[in-house]
Amino acid sequence: MRLLVTGGAGFIGANFVHGSVRDHEVTVLDALTYAGSREALAPVAGDIRLVEGDVTDAELVTKLVAEADAVVHFAAETHVDNALADPEPFLRSNVVGTFTILEAVRRHGVRLHHVSTDEVYGDLELDTRRRFTEETPYNPSSPYSSTKAAADMLVRAWVRSYGVRATISNCSNNYGPYQHVEKFIPRTITNVLTGRRPKLYGSGANVRDWIHVDDHNAAVWRILADGQAGRTYLIGAECERDNLTVIRTILTLMGRDPDDFDHVTDRAGHDLRYAIDPTPLYDELGWAPKHTDFDEGLRATIDWYRDNESWWGPLKDVVEAAYEERGQ
Ligand code: NAD
Ligand code: TYD
Repeated sequence: MRLLVTGGAGFIGANFVHGSVRDHEVTVLDALTYAGSREALAPVAGDIRLVEGDVTDAELVTKLVAEADAVVHFAAETHVDNALADPEPFLRSNVVGTFTILEAVRRHGVRLHHVSTDEVYGDLELDTRRRFTEETPYNPSSPYSSTKAAADMLVRAWVRSYGVRATISNCSNNYGPYQHVEKFIPRTITNVLTGRRPKLYGSGANVRDWIHVDDHNAAVWRILADGQAGRTYLIGAECERDNLTVIRTILTLMGRDPDDFDHVTDRAGHDLRYAIDPTPLYDELGWAPKHTDFDEGLRATIDWYRDNESWWGPLKDVVEAAYEERGQ
């Protein structure tokens, strides 16, 4: 298949491209923002076409979509703390960008898979067993999740109004290689590796439902292959952990005292708990996560960051300076 992968130089997109080049012809469209890097694609550089460009550039997007059999749309601004500080790029990339992709696939009749987040559903109480399902009403809390929700709504409308052949997936929190050091798990690991103390927002009671990036991408492939146009699929690996447990586990795995971290100012509007019910993905598409041992996944991720300082090292000081300015 000729695949157009937007955001393929970012965390999840790059891992997706690594796993797709053997069997498919891959073009990556990426603006190479602060979150995208050519280096993340270095292992497959000879096997792909990397186009540096913006998903809001209608002319470029239309040309690339016309040459593709399917589009997998990862490109987005993705960090909640950045969205709180400056929401404008989120509106542009996430909403206008998705609109631009939709118009191009509509014009050329190309299959689209739109990658989204469980954060569109808002949050769940800490003291229930309730989980998000396809029927959960959208209730986004942050400038990030509200722009992702808007993008999802556009996709649904283009399916209904124009018959665009699109699927949507809403996945829980990913971890693994090539995740930007602004995010919780890589920030914690690289803080330890650079002699800084990890930072925990608020009390650390907030719960995230973790999934290894390779399991997410395997699910995206199952949906691309056999998903039903117009459907939304929730992707999660049934791995809920509170942030306090995650930070303590990482510190222990790295041979440090589990309490060797700082409590910092809580995030504004901080979502309490995310949890996905992935049953339809198991039942309908035969998907199941392979990385089911979270501590083992964290151990491998720690090893990856230890071995790949040349990739993340140049980003680290800038990220920490921005956090320090915000008191985080
Ligand atoms: P990331 O921030 O690591 O990478 C995003 C990529 O998109 C970067 O390479 C960046 O350069 C590119 N990009 C941003 N704006 C662009 C634009 N206007 N034009 C072209 N390229 C642009 O993000 P990620 O964590 O890999 O997330 C990828 C997708 O998965 C996003 O849509 C995100 O909402 C979704 N998602 C992420 C998670 C998670 O835990 N990281 C969970 C569920 C869903
Ligand atoms: P993050 O990786 O930003 O993902 P998201 O906000 O999209 O879930 O954060 C994951 C959780 O970790 C979230 O509850 C905020 C918290 N957090 C910390 O406690 N300390 C940190 O240094 C960061 C970056 C996040």
